[in-house]
Amino acid sequence: MRVVEAIADVREAVAAARRRGERIGCVPTMGTVHAGHLSLVTECQRQSGFVVVSIFVNPTQFAPHEDLGTYPRSLEEDLAKCRAAGVDLVFTPNVPTIYPDGFETFITVERISQMLEGEHRPTHFRGVATVVAKLFNIVQPDVACFGQKDYQQQALIRRMVRDLDIPVEIMVCPTVREEDGLALSSRNTYLNTEERQAALSLCESLQLADQHVRDGETDLAKIRAVMRGHLESHADVEPEYATIADADTLKELNEPRPPMVALVAAKVGKTRLIDNLVIGEE
Ligand code: PAJ
Repeated sequence: MRVVEAIADVREAVAAARRRGERIGCVPTMGTVHAGHLSLVTECQRQSGFVVVSIFVNPTQFAPHEDLGTYPRSLEEDLAKCRAAGVDLVFTPNVPTIYPDGFETFITVERISQMLEGEHRPTHFRGVATVVAKLFNIVQPDVACFGQKDYQQQALIRRMVRDLDIPVEIMVCPTVREEDGLALSSRNTYLNTEERQAALSLCESLQLADQHVRDGETDLAKIRAVMRGHLESHADVEPEYATIADADTLKELNEPRPPMVALVAAKVGKTRLIDNLVIGEE
């Protein structure tokens, strides 16, 4: 496995793999690699012969009051996990490599950026879209893998790729969870024991939504209230949103119209977590 910091080195390694006739795969991450990230690597290896993982804590997707400064970083462990997983190339750029002096071009995926996460993190998706577009231009992958865990993010990236005619196939991989249901997230490392327990309320509220839809409840406002009520019943948990939306457009629904997705965001103590579940499926 090669580890490179410079764009020119990525281009050279990718060009060599292409000359060998390999398809190129890309898994963008912010590091603190966990089994969720590694599931994307495995899918990417199924889809391509040369897998590039990027590890870059992208400053433009954090607002000034957010956790950029404290975001967990564990490069050595991350590299060991990537090596053990059989990753071909890890790209670990520094900030000036991605955002050199004078940088002023950003990508805005308009509608999707504004709703849900965007209402609470108004500049977040502009940073995500911009860095992912740059990674696509640097790596020029045939395929790139993203997690369903960040449902709105994968929708935004699929929209951007279509809108800008970026020649990459986007694969979306299922959310990897702990045995008790908690979705794996690098931010779970912030949780103390009580918060870790309270954090289960996110996936439980999604399961409640699924159960109510299966039981034939058609008033989705009622289900949203149940979801929010479940989150609020935990002292450490402060919900930001708990909703049911069209799985493609992410527009909030008032009556069941599959495919649908239930989405939640909440602060557990000081840690902001998100989760989602496609609901009402056979
Ligand atoms: P990060 O949070 O490190 O996640 C990297 C990728 O792993 C994303 O596609 C995310 O959806 C996926 N992922 C995270 N937790 C997962 C889980 N439990 N199961 C399956 N997949 C999971 O998302 C980002 O970084 C950044 O926004 C990025 C796309 C790298 C742009 O900076």
